[in-house]
Amino acid sequence: MAIKVGIAGKRGICFLQGLRGIEDVQVEAFCDIDEDVLTAEASKHGISHTYRVFEDMLASDIDAVIIATPMQLHVQQVLAALDAGKHVLSEVPAGTTMDEMYWLVEAVEHSGKVYMMAENYFYIPENQLIMNMVRGGVFGDVYFGEGEYLHNIKSIVHKNVGGVNLWRNYWQLGLRGMFYPTHSAGPVMKWFEGDRVKSLCCMGAGHHTQPSFRQEDTTITLCQMESGKMVKLRLDCLSERPHNMSYYSLQGTKGCYEAPRGLGDDHKIWLTGMDKDTDSASWRPLKDFWDEYMPERYKHATEEQRSAGHWGGDFFIVEDFINAVKGKAAPTVDVYEACEWSSIAMLSALSLMNGSKVVDMPDFRKQKRYVDQNVKI
Ligand SMILES: NC(=O)c1ccc[n+]([C@@H]2O[C@H](COP(=O)([O-])OP(=O)(O)OC[C@H]3O[C@@H](n4cnc5c(N)ncnc54)[C@H](O)[C@@H]3O)[C@@H](O)[C@H]2O)c1
Repeated sequence: MAIKVGIAGKRGICFLQGLRGIEDVQVEAFCDIDEDVLTAEASKHGISHTYRVFEDMLASDIDAVIIATPMQLHVQQVLAALDAGKHVLSEVPAGTTMDEMYWLVEAVEHSGKVYMMAENYFYIPENQLIMNMVRGGVFGDVYFGEGEYLHNIKSIVHKNVGGVNLWRNYWQLGLRGMFYPTHSAGPVMKWFEGDRVKSLCCMGAGHHTQPSFRQEDTTITLCQMESGKMVKLRLDCLSERPHNMSYYSLQGTKGCYEAPRGLGDDHKIWLTGMDKDTDSASWRPLKDFWDEYMPERYKHATEEQRSAGHWGGDFFIVEDFINAVKGKAAPTVDVYEACEWSSIAMLSALSLMNGSKVVDMPDFRKQKRYVDQNVKI
């Protein structure tokens, strides 16, 4: 029997090509509260059932739902979907408050349904390649990682320039701290497999470019891992500069990796033994390691899979979600990782508003009693 999928929010359409590339999956329904978007997208993509009201789509016989509505709606819609017995693929971040994180964990644990967060930057081919190199011990013991999301979004927080405020005005540039953490944190956290964020602190560069926004021009969040290792995350959604939404680096005992910064720069690594001494050390292209370490499905991706979007990631992410629904694999980003990565937003704001004090990250896998759900600062 085919797995029937419904999509909520127009961004979810980017998963359509991937879903249609899987044999026993049918995209049955599309939901968007905006009537114009609803009719235009449904007719463009030939989706037969349309709904303006999310709960009405849940009342249909779909098996799974993709939630790609604004971030402040994710948790309430995920909970409604799980209640209705649907599996869920949710856009990032998982939610927007600490209480929501706990609701989410409890609801997923009780539902027995699949919940996966659609953190797609982990599916960037180079991030997958690096993960295989980390797993293969190529960098030795990895003790430092970085992720940066530099994306000037000032022009998309209002409907037209100077017009009606959109959700991004409040839930992104209206927040303090690292409000959009998962693209930077996700891939790096996967390289620190088996570890978790134990505590973090956040510092901001102040309000300069457009001081009407509560968000500071740049924030840096430092995450101390349970192992004592460190991850540094930078968010900048205001500064006047070219975008760079996928900068990453890592350092291990045997070598390092750096993503491109622009102007002809490329993905590059250096490993001990490559040069006669460290004074003559020079970068090597990451692509030299493609054949040995790139996951097979990326090496053999079809043109159709690659064209699904986000470097083929939009195909593999839905393939992984559908495999989880079929019970063939665990979700790639489960509810515990989703909550840990997403709550970097709330905890970094708390740190920033308390003189950059160090804040403990709850262990979402363990804490069941309310008394253990306090955030220590
Ligand atoms: N993974 C990524 O690379 C990536 C990129 C962009 C956005 N996002 C995430 O995707 C989500 C959507 O972002 P966007 O840029 O598409 O926002 P958007 O404002 O452009 O689109 C949101 C859509 O949701 C619809 N909507 C709003 N409320 C609804 C409701 N109650 N029921 C049904 N539909 C509703 C709107 O009409 C609109 O069409 C956000 O959570 C964002 O963080 C992720």
